[in-house]
This record gives sequence, C-alpha cells and structure tokens, in this order.
Amino acid sequence: MSAQLIDGKAIAQAIREEIRLGVERLRQEHGVVPGLATVLVGDNPASVSYVTAKNKACAELGMASFQHTLPADITEEKLLALIDQLNRDASVHGILVQLPLPKGICESRVIEAIDPRKDVDGFHPVNVGRLMLGDPVFPPCTPAGIQALIIRSGTPIEGAEVVVVGRSNIVGKPVAVMLLQKQRGANATVTVCHTQTRDLAFHTRRADILIVAAGRPQAITGDMIRPGATVIDVGVNRVGYTESGKVKLVGDVDFDSAVKVAGKITPVPGGVGPMTITMLMRNTLRAARLHLGLPLDG
Ligand code: GUN
Repeated sequence: MSAQLIDGKAIAQAIREEIRLGVERLRQEHGVVPGLATVLVGDNPASVSYVTAKNKACAELGMASFQHTLPADITEEKLLALIDQLNRDASVHGILVQLPLPKGICESRVIEAIDPRKDVDGFHPVNVGRLMLGDPVFPPCTPAGIQALIIRSGTPIEGAEVVVVGRSNIVGKPVAVMLLQKQRGANATVTVCHTQTRDLAFHTRRADILIVAAGRPQAITGDMIRPGATVIDVGVNRVGYTESGKVKLVGDVDFDSAVKVAGKITPVPGGVGPMTITMLMRNTLRAARLHLGLPLDG
C-alpha cells in the first residue's frame, strides 16, 4: 500500500485565496493595504530564494512589500537602526528578518528590537509567551502551516499521539506547544525527541502523527513509522542538482520507504514549504487588522 500524499501546494492555494479576499476587503472598507518589510542580510542562497518567494507572494495577494537587502558585513547597529525605522513606518505592518543572520550579529537582540505588533514571524519573546499561554497573535509560520496541513488532510488531532523530532525554536518547540493546547485542532499528547533521545524509533513508532524537523536528510526511515500514521516532513535539504539543473531537495524523512508504511505523508518539495509562506501572508493581514484595531480573523 502507498500513503496518500498531502498536497501542500493545493492546500496553501486554497488558504491564499481566503487571504486575498481578506486583503481586498480591508482595502475596500478601510483603504489600507497590508505591507510586509523583508530584511535579508548577506546572500545565503536558501535565504535569497525564501525572501524572493515571500515578496512574490505579497504581490500575488495584493499586499505591499518592501525589500531591504543588506551586505553580510553590515554592523548590528545599522541593522537595529533599520528595524527602528520600520517599526515607526505606518505603511509597514509586518517585519520579517530572514534567519540565520551572519556571525557577529546577535539574533536575539535583533528579534527583540522588532515591535511585537509587527512580528509576523512570531519570534519575539512577547509572542512566544502568548503562544505558550494558548493565545497567539502571530502563530509562527511553519508550525501554523503544519497544524493547518494536519487539519485539512482530515487527520484527527484531539487525543492523538503526536511525536515531534527536533526541538528548534522555529519549528519543534512551538509546534509541540501549539498541538498541546486545550483547543480545537490541538489537544494532542505530545512527545518531543531530539539528538539526545535514547531510542528514537521507540518513540516515532508510537506516533499517530509524526512531525519531523530534525535538520538531517532522511533521518526517519519507513521502519520507524507506525503503519497508517500521518507523517509531516519539515526538512529541506539541498543534495545537489536534478538532471534539468534544478536544485535537488530531500526531506528529513526517507520518502521511498516511508510512503509504503504511512497513511498520509507530505512530499518534499510541495508539502510544508508552500504553507510556511502562506501563514506569513496570513500573519501580515492580521498585523494590518491589529493596526486598525479590528478583530484579527475577519
Ligand atoms: N529561516 C528559516 N525559517 C525561517 C522563518 O520562518 N522566518 C525567518 N525569518 N527566517 C527563517
């Protein structure tokens, strides 16, 4: 048997259409166009391609985008000055500083300089705190995308055994907290595994929903998956080039062996990736609504 593919592209497209309508309504009723400022420091190829895709998505959904590209040797002081300027700019509702930042710049100092009301990544400690309390203003984009994929693929989360592999601040920790909340679309029993977990396969084989954000190509193989489980592969690993010269990507799950065991599985690319940018767009619309004093989901 072969698992059903969870089509992140199609699900993201459906959500983007809802966002596009929300943007249009905001423009008609309030004369406001949501604006996202992106800040890219240096020329890391993956970061360049993510930021380009984020700006393109803004244009497609009728939002404004303001792209700031800075040299890798910029001083922290100059970067903080730019953030201060964006914090005070009324046409900028959301600020995204692409991570990682070059060595020598303190990431936490930069994140904490962003006005929490414009922190569409949801990385500011104020927003991390709200997430922990179960009332996030800006749910972090990749975890929010993962949750939406699970819900829209028809996998029940309430009471399910969820196992998360990876404990990063961007994916592992926040997605665990989100799925743990006593809320609809959550309420799971959550286990978080990491590099020091003693018997990884023991845990992953118990999962009804397995979320893999290990940062290691093909770390999870089919024999580590419970038959019928829903598998969400967050990994994006560049492993050379395809015959047509495109960058070849693989996930953190060994797709060929996993697809024979899982019930549902996300492909790489075309699974979590398109959802992350979609959730950033949703947060930018929320930031504009917050600025206007409107209910966040309208
Ligand atoms: N680098 C990898 N993922 C992300 C993300 O979600 N936001 C930002 N700003 N940088 C990232």
